[in-house]
Order: sequence, then C-alpha cells, then structure tokens
Amino acid sequence: MNPLLSLLQPYPFERLRQLFAGVTPNPAYSPISLGIGEPKHAPPAFIQQALVASITGSPSGLASYPATAGEPKLREAFAAWLQKRYGLSLNPATQMLPVNGSREALFSLTQTVINPDTASSPGEKPLVVCPNPFYQIYEGAALLAGADAYYVASDPARNFAPDWDSVPEAVWARTQQLFVCSPGNPTGAVMPLSEWQKLFALSDRFDFVIASDECYSEIYFRDEPPLGGLEAAARLGRSDFKNLIILTSLSKRSNVPGMRSGFVAGDAALIKQYLLYRTYHGCAMSPVVQAASIAAWQDEAHVVDNRALYRAKFAQVTPLLAQVMNVALPDAGFYLWADVAGDDTAFARELYALYNVTVLPGSFLAREAQGHNPGAGRIRMALVADTAECLEAARRIVQFVRAHHS
Ligand SMILES: Cc1ncc(COP(=O)(O)O)c(C=O)c1O
Repeated sequence: MNPLLSLLQPYPFERLRQLFAGVTPNPAYSPISLGIGEPKHAPPAFIQQALVASITGSPSGLASYPATAGEPKLREAFAAWLQKRYGLSLNPATQMLPVNGSREALFSLTQTVINPDTASSPGEKPLVVCPNPFYQIYEGAALLAGADAYYVASDPARNFAPDWDSVPEAVWARTQQLFVCSPGNPTGAVMPLSEWQKLFALSDRFDFVIASDECYSEIYFRDEPPLGGLEAAARLGRSDFKNLIILTSLSKRSNVPGMRSGFVAGDAALIKQYLLYRTYHGCAMSPVVQAASIAAWQDEAHVVDNRALYRAKFAQVTPLLAQVMNVALPDAGFYLWADVAGDDTAFARELYALYNVTVLPGSFLAREAQGHNPGAGRIRMALVADTAECLEAARRIVQFVRAHHS
C-alpha cells in the first residue's frame, strides 16, 4: 500500500463523531446542525432543467465520452463570467479547465505541481504552505503528493490574515506550492491587494505555485465583491498570471454541491501540465453536467437572490450571538467564526448534550504549529439552514452560554 496514506489525519467530522460518542442530546430539543458547510438553499430550477434537457436531448449527453478540457462552449462560459465578475480577458482555450468541484481540483492540482524528489538533505520533503485554520484537503493533498504541510496561523487582530511574515526564509526556500483561501473557510476573511503583492513577490523569489481557493467568492456581506487572485494579479500588472491558479465552484454560488462542477483558471503553462495530468486521472466532466454548468455560469440573477438570503440570515443571527460571544459579521462565506473564551471541544460537547445543537470545534479545523492551535477557543457555525432554524440555534446558544458559561 501507499505508505503516505498513513499520514492522513481524521477528517474534522470524524473527530466530531468521536467527541459526541456516548452523549445523548437533550430530547426536549429537535436536532439542529451548524456543523457541516453544505449549502442548503434550494438548487435553481433552471439548472435542474438544463441537466434533464441534456440527458433527454438528441444526442443524449450520456451518449459520448467527454473531452478532459471540456466543450469550447463551457470554457467560453467560464471566460465570460471572469470578464463580467473581474473585468478580465482570459483565453478560454489555454487558461482554464473544468473540474468536478474545487475539492477534487485542490487535490489533483497539488499532485501535478509537487516534485517530491528535491531534497537537499535526506528525509527533507518539499513544503506546501497552508493557512491555519484551513480546509483539510490542502493538507491531505500535500501529504499524498510527497510534501509536508507548513501551517501559517491566521491573526485575529488583523482580520484573520495569515501571518506570512512569520515564515522563515528556509521554509520559503523549500516551498513548492502555497494555498490561499479567500474568502476564508472558516474565517470568512478576504485577502487584500497588499497581501497578494507580498505573496506574488515571494512566489517570484522562491518559484512556488499559488493555488487560490475562491469557492466562497459570491457570498459576501460588504458592498464590494471579494478581490479575486487573478484580479489582484492583473491589477499588479501580472497579465500572464505566472505561477497562479484560481479554483472556483458552482457548489456554493449556485447551491448545487451534488453536481460537482467548478473550474480553474490562470497560468497557461500550469494549465497545460494540469490538463495532461487530468487526462490520465480520468476526471473529465460529464456532458450533462457541462450543459447545466453553462446555464449556471451564464446566469447571475439566482446568485444575487442567494446572496440576499445569506445577508438577511446573517443580519439576524449575528447580533443575537454577539450578545454572548465575540463574533462579528465576516467579509464573506457562510460561517461565523466565534471566540467562545474557553475550551472549544467542551463547549461543543455540552451544547450538543444540553441543547441538541451541533457546532464544529475550531481546534479540529487547525493544527498545532509554532506552539499553538489558532482554532482553539473558537467554534465554526455554518449558517446554511433556513433563517428560522439558524435563529432557533442562536437562541439556544445564547441560553446555553448565559446558563453555563458566564
Ligand atoms: C474552503 C473550501 N474549498 C473547497 C471546498 C470544496 O467545494 P466543492 O468541491 O464543492 O467545490 C470547500 C467545501 O466545503 C471548502 O470549504
């Protein structure tokens, strides 16, 4: 067996199951989960209709093998969206590829990029730099590619910006890839242009790839939409997007996590190698999903409506919770990342036992590095259920903190 598999850590939801083992939640309350970050707003009917039309059309979308690069019409839809959203003109033939959701792409891109045989001393692996806390796929992708992950703590005093300046030169020298998550999961923070400038300079100096995970880019709470990585590069005159790939997805934007559809875009030299890898990986997007994806990327009205639902929900839930814990409206995303001023695992377990509300302990989403776990003392609450259910959860949490934690 591949020995690298033994390096993988249990997924946060597995750790949550272990934490809750043997606990019987209070039967006086119905269960509410703010644990899993799965979109719950209804998938748009027109996307479902496009799927069905593709299956039943003539020829049926099921009748042929798809090309790994996707249909030209699909890549043109990505390019048109990038133009509309960020004012960018990318070449659909060379600078973008369809992927089956951003998760798959975060993983497979890393396998394409990492060269594990670069050690200058025995046992020394290349490094993949990750924000901390982070989406666990980054770590697994790095480990299975034969790299080690290096974690950079986010700083609550600077809107959870990762402290890139804390990374030693010797670490940058071994870095082959860096993950950016903006808007961040779980912090909701959007990375400003100044941070992008810093990372581009480091990427130029140490020749590493920046993989920018932007799957929450369309759910935001300020007037200005989140800055994208390609947009940042273009503003800084980096029109070739050297060493930069962004990954985006319909899962959150269009409430279709089950469709598994997204795309990557950026440096044409990287895209070329990634296409080669994907050809053998065998992960071409189904023509049926391609047809529905074209419809989804071409429509913005449903995205505006979806954002309005989140905005209304967060505007009601956040102030309630802020009565009892240090929590604020994030820049973007669908999580609240709250400071519970104590043991986050004990908080989650007791809340579940007494009020049947599930939240994710922050320490499960981060690693101990440089002497501390930056998720400790925090919880992540995914406000994906409808507003009434999220409000009910928030009322129970307020009651819980007042009765047991103050
Ligand atoms: C930060 C982050 N990146 C990527 C993904 C993967 O999303 P998908 O594969 O549905 O595009 C998720 C899903 O929860 C996520 O939270």
